[in-house]
Amino acid sequence: MTCLLSAEEVTVRYGSLAALDGVDLCVHDGQRHALIGPNGAGKTTLLNVIAGATKPQRGTVRFAGRNVSRLGPAARARRGINRIHQRPAVFPTLTATENVVVAALPRVTADPGWWPGRRRRAARHRAGALLEQLGLADLATVPAGHLAHGQRRQLEIAMALAGRPRLLLLDEPAAGLSAVEVGRLVEVLQALPRAVAVLLVEHRLDLVYALSDAVSVLRDGQTLAAGTPDEIRTSPLVRQAYADGVA
Ligand SMILES: Nc1ncnc2c1ncn2[C@@H]1O[C@H](COP(=O)(O)OP(=O)(O)OP(=O)(O)O)[C@@H](O)[C@H]1O
Ligand SMILES: [Mg+2]
Repeated sequence: MTCLLSAEEVTVRYGSLAALDGVDLCVHDGQRHALIGPNGAGKTTLLNVIAGATKPQRGTVRFAGRNVSRLGPAARARRGINRIHQRPAVFPTLTATENVVVAALPRVTADPGWWPGRRRRAARHRAGALLEQLGLADLATVPAGHLAHGQRRQLEIAMALAGRPRLLLLDEPAAGLSAVEVGRLVEVLQALPRAVAVLLVEHRLDLVYALSDAVSVLRDGQTLAAGTPDEIRTSPLVRQAYADGVA
């Protein structure tokens, strides 16, 4: 099977530190792929390289059959790579609905007031449906800056989905969420259409095993193991890495 996304021999150096050292990754169409590993393993750096936010010293990123290595983050988002960050990034003065509307049409001017009426209505309609899906319908008119952390996290997922991604990059989406919010997040991710592949960075292994059908393990900027959740769960190498200290 060909990869929807492939990262090949990716190396990122910060001075003498190799944050990534020749890492390969393949995410198939519709796959739920988890990326795990100890703090500082290079997980966020790899998401940054895939999203186009960090330029590697070496290596190639291919997406949907194209070499996208030279494209910036906006161009990659237009091709279907959308992400949520380790810390939620929303527009604090815009309402929840407006945040999703703005995220829906990245190629058009960021001010929805300039859009043609039909397009604006369609975007607002879709934003309403996404907020409903994420359990935020009651907060549609609240400025995003007034939302609790967990609600902002859900809002950012709605914004990422508004761009109709083919690949959703999630960096520790459960961090800082209450148990109820984590439950909702799991439901939302499980309900995502299979047209959307997911690359999930997550420390909580219960979530990883509940959500993923493939797991890659990074350690010290290198791939330690890759396989099915069962293979990773029982891998002596991975057990050792976790025994050595993972959050
Ligand atoms: N901009 C930067 N400048 C210098 N060093 C960096 C930079 N970004 C990351 N690093 C270093 O690269 C390594 C990998 O960092 P990265 O954030 O990718 O790890 P991570 O696996 O996401 O960790 P965590 O689980 O703590 O989020 C770490 O040693 C980190 O300190
Ligand atoms: Mg990280």
